[in-house]
Amino acid sequence: MLILRSAADVETLVARERQNGHTIGFVPTMGALHEGHLSLVERAVSENDITIVSVFVNPTQFNNPVDLATYPRDEEADFRLLAGAGVSAVFAPSVEEMYPGGVEGRERHEFALGMAAVVMEGKYRPGHFQGVAEVVSRLFAIVRPTRAYFGEKDFQQIAVIRNMVQSEGIDIEIVPCPIRRAGDGLALSSRNALLTPEQRRLAPEIHRALADSVEYSRSHSVRATHDSVVERIDAVPGMRVEYFEIVDGRTLLPLEDWDESPWAVGCITVYCGEVRLIDNICYKKNI
Ligand code: PAJ
Repeated sequence: MLILRSAADVETLVARERQNGHTIGFVPTMGALHEGHLSLVERAVSENDITIVSVFVNPTQFNNPVDLATYPRDEEADFRLLAGAGVSAVFAPSVEEMYPGGVEGRERHEFALGMAAVVMEGKYRPGHFQGVAEVVSRLFAIVRPTRAYFGEKDFQQIAVIRNMVQSEGIDIEIVPCPIRRAGDGLALSSRNALLTPEQRRLAPEIHRALADSVEYSRSHSVRATHDSVVERIDAVPGMRVEYFEIVDGRTLLPLEDWDESPWAVGCITVYCGEVRLIDNICYKKNI
């Protein structure tokens, strides 16, 4: 597996592969890799001639400096896992390589991301999705993949990336991949490493509350289903729901009635102490 630090080296590799008619799978990550990331990587490896994974903790998508400073990093372990998964090359650039003019002085482009970037994460993390769009569009321009793989754990991120690709006229297939969970149901996340043992023991209540609410939703309104989830999670010591919204799976706009849309998804963010965890559940998908 090649370990590439410069965009120019990635471009050279990609130009050669494309000339040979090879397809390129791409998995963008921020490292601290776990089975969730690896499920995307495995899919990319199985569907493409070569697979490139990026490992880059992107400062422009963090609106909270403490979150950026405490974000877990373990490059050596990441490279070991990726080499074992059959990845052809990992792109692990420095901040200077990605933002040559510096993060502060960089030229900013306002991406047209639609309403999907305004609700939920967009509301609670202002600027977050502009930062995601900025780094992903830069990575796409360098890697020029045939297909790019994203996890449904970040359900809203996929919708935003789809809007970005459409508004920028980028010809890359976006492949959504299912959420990977620990045995007790907790969605795998790099941030789980920041939980205390006690928080880690309690955190699966997020998924349990969501999973149980699917049955509950069959005989209750959107509002009642919403409230049942929030009340149950807020009752856990040390846990606080930041938002829970039941939305249309395409537009991400809130639903008031189950009949309003054939695709209903509940998106949640919970603070476990200082650690911000996100998850989601599908109530129905008839499209
Ligand atoms: P990161 O949080 O490292 O996630 C990288 C990819 O792995 C994302 O597409 C995410 O949805 C997916 N992923 C994480 N946990 C998962 C799980 N439990 N099951 C399935 N997929 C999972 O998302 C980012 O990085 C960044 O915003 C990025 C797109 C790299 C831009 O900086």
